[in-house]
Order: sequence, then C-alpha cells, then structure tokens
Amino acid sequence: MTVALREGVLLSEPSETLDPQNWDEVRAQGHRMLDDMFDYVADIRDRPVWSPIPDDVRTQFRAALPRQPSDLGAVYREFTDSILPYATGNVHPGFMGWVHGGGTAVGMLAEMLAAGLNANLGGRDHIPIEVERQIVEWTRSMFGFPEEASGVFVTGTSMANLMALLVARTAALGQSVRRNGIGDQGASLTAYASNAAHGCITKGMDLAGFGSDALRCIDVDRFHRIDVAALRARIARDRNVGLKPFLVIGSAGTVDIGAIDDLRALGALCREQGLWFHVDGAYGALGVLAPALAPRLAGLETADSIALDFHKWGQVPYDAGFLLVRDGRQHRETFSAPAAYLRRETRGLAAGSPWPCDLGPDLSRGFRALKTWFTLKTYGTDKLGAMIGRTCGLAGYLEARIQAEPRLELLAPVQLNIVCFRYRAADANGVNRNIVIDIQESGIAAPSTTILDGQLAIRAAIVNHRTDTCDIDALIAAVLEFGAQRSRCDDGSVLNVELSPPLAM
Ligand SMILES: Cc1ncc(COP(=O)(O)O)c(C=O)c1O
Repeated sequence: MTVALREGVLLSEPSETLDPQNWDEVRAQGHRMLDDMFDYVADIRDRPVWSPIPDDVRTQFRAALPRQPSDLGAVYREFTDSILPYATGNVHPGFMGWVHGGGTAVGMLAEMLAAGLNANLGGRDHIPIEVERQIVEWTRSMFGFPEEASGVFVTGTSMANLMALLVARTAALGQSVRRNGIGDQGASLTAYASNAAHGCITKGMDLAGFGSDALRCIDVDRFHRIDVAALRARIARDRNVGLKPFLVIGSAGTVDIGAIDDLRALGALCREQGLWFHVDGAYGALGVLAPALAPRLAGLETADSIALDFHKWGQVPYDAGFLLVRDGRQHRETFSAPAAYLRRETRGLAAGSPWPCDLGPDLSRGFRALKTWFTLKTYGTDKLGAMIGRTCGLAGYLEARIQAEPRLELLAPVQLNIVCFRYRAADANGVNRNIVIDIQESGIAAPSTTILDGQLAIRAAIVNHRTDTCDIDALIAAVLEFGAQRSRCDDGSVLNVELSPPLAM
C-alpha cells in the first residue's frame, strides 16, 4: 500500500524497503552461498583452470533490463550455473598467466564483512578509515619510509603509477599547475623508465597531459634491468637541449620477465640530479617480505613514491592497489580539493582530516583496507614472505624442468617468479601461440604469452600461493603434448627442428 503525500510524491510501506521480508530465508540462502564458495575454493583442483564461454551462456548476459523482481535463490542458481564456471581461473593453482593473485578464504570473508558495513572511505571520522591508516602505517614500516609518509588504497598499480606521476608533476611545477595546467614549463618536463617498464606508465604520461613522447624509454641489459649509464647520458642530453628532466621510474619486477632495476643506483642518481624517484613495484615490491628477495630490492627505501598491489603477491582479493608517498604534504597538495559540502570539523562525524579523498581522485571509496588488514593479521608477514619466496622456488623448478628438456628452450633469465620459454619448432611463434591457447582451452593450466626480441614466449608467472610442483609438471606435459601436435606435419611425421643452444645464464 502507498500513501499520497502531495502530487507526484508517494510514501511506500516499510515492507517495500529492499530488506528481506523473511530474514531466516535470506540467512539460510547466505549460508548456502558461503558454503558453496568454500567448497569452490577447497575443491578448485577438480575444476578446469578456465573454460571457454558457450554461446548460450554469453547470450544470457544480453538480457533486457529486469523491471520485475526475481527470487534470490533463482538468481543465485544463474550465478552457479552461468557465472561461477566461466571465471578467469586465477583462484586455480594452474593459473600462471599475466600477474594474478589467487585470493584466500580469509580475504573472501573480509569482503563479505566489508560489504555488510558498506563503509565509504572517502572521508569522515569512522574506524574503517583508521583501519586504512593502520595499513598505511604497516606499509610505511615495510618499506622503511619516514613518519610523514602517506598512503592510499586505489584500484591497482596502473592508477597508483598515474597518481605518482601527478604528485611528481606538482612537486616539479608547484601547486599552481593544478589551476593553470602544465603550460609551457610542463611541456619541457621529461620522465625516464626502462623500455621493459609496464605500459601503464606510458599511458599515465599521456593521461597526465605530458604526452607519452615525454617518457624516455631507456635500454636494458640482458636481464632487462635499466642501463643506468644510458639513463644518465639521456638525462644530460635532454638538459643540454633545454628540457627539464623531473622523474625516473624504476621497476621492482618487470611484467615480462621479473627484472628488478638497480634501485639503489637509481635512487642515488635521482638525489644527485634532483629528480623524483618513483618505483613501480606492482607485484615485486612485496618481495621485501621474503628474506631471500629483500636484499635485491635494496634502494626501494630511497624512493619518493612506490606503487604496489596487495592483490598480486599479497593474495588479497581484487582489487587492492596502493600508493605510498614519502612526503605526505606533497601528496595532499596534489589531490586535496576543499568543498563546502566536505567541510572538516574538529569533532563530530566530519572530524579526522585529512581524509583519504585528499590523497587521490576518488571521493567514494570502498573498504579495501579491511581485506588487506585481515590478510596481514591472519597470516602475518613472515608467512606471506615465505609464500612469496616459494613461488620463486617454483619458478626455479620450472626453469630446471625446461633446461632438462631438449624440446624446450628458455627465452629469458629467471630472476623472480616469471618464466619465459618456448617449444622448439620451425614456425616457433605460430606454434607457441597455439600451444598457449590449446592449454588454456584444455583447462589444464593458464599461461599467457609475451614477445621477447621478436620471439613469442610462453610466459608462466607463478603468483598463486596454491601452485605446486604438480601444476608445473602438468604445464610442461601439456606444452610437450600440444607442441608435438602443433608441429606435426600433415603426413603425421614430426617436423625436423634445428635446436638452438640453451640460453646461457
Ligand atoms: C610491473 C607492473 N606494473 C603495473 C601493472 C599494472 O597493475 P594493475 O593491473 O594492478 O593496474 C602490472 C600488472 O601486472 C605490472 O606487472
């Protein structure tokens, strides 16, 4: 029943809120969902890593806007039948493509709690923001940053890198850049990264208004580490023609092969030259938690800013990107934007300034901090560090299996958790591209590809904490099986492939 208040305004009955009429029913349904998701994760090995989406399932998601309600149980059945079986597969230990974390049951539960709280972490004085500040503090101590450092959760490292470029821009041009744009002065700013750096940095230069050509892509050595001497020379050349170098972006774990730049040398060069030193540590930065890796990340503590993802090696469910900035004042000066409706107070709900909305472009923000807090507290950083170290050990195991197998060749040195290799074949690029697709479609594993010196590589990034040697063995067996099929001639004979010598490391 509805009550007319004035023309065109109706007050509906309380029973017409979106809360359930019967909480017991929704509770029972919720328990079923939770049990099913625990089973899904616990029994994940019984499933294919990934399954191609059948046409009729895809078509289901071209339906008209639902004007009428549906029973929750029926909607959930659609989820179990048509969504659950066709996910990316990164929960599965056989998933090795791109750089995807595996998630945990702990993170999943925390997500449910966060959704129940429905907190908006843009600002105001409430404990979820203190949880985020706790993570900022933990991250600050993880990387040895000073007390005045600040940090903020974002979607992912692509966003964190873009935001770091903006902080570096404000530091170089002053806060007036926020009113006037980068202008003539900004047009002469140049930034530097290696040509193995992630594409989101080029995109960030474009989005920040510098233009992607203002990013100088410096050569790398055979381990894909930036050539620091070439970097120094390029900076000098740019200065000589009147340009204004302002930023160097180092990589702590490149996306293709897991290279770590000499961060100590980059930090020293930036200090000497008065440049902002940003590190893209999307997945590699959390390597500081693994005792064997931490020394290789030396110099990270000298950065002006670090971008990283808790959703990769940290295994926090998507998404949980993070930006840490050494000088919190410069961070705030880049993003804070006073508004009457966001007025701060010293008490009441509008207290607690600065707010996270002062540290990035987002005003409404979810409670990403909760799943990260649960993950860090439940497992502890020692265990997370051991897990990270173990993924690198598994990459070493895969490397050894490749080197022991004459039909396979390694295409890049294995430095962290990423292995690039291929099946030896006459049309190696075509064959290996198809091998990867065949393996993905088989559901056995999910590697991805990249191109190294014009050669298509099968790329296995061991990020998932569930991956074990049996998954590596299954990948190798599948590559050999599909490789043999793909390089077989029409008459059934196997192509005679000239074997190139193994890559010397
Ligand atoms: C080195 C590196 N930088 C940046 C990114 C982008 O991170 P995100 O996907 O969280 O935006 C990635 C993603 O894999 C990466 O490996």
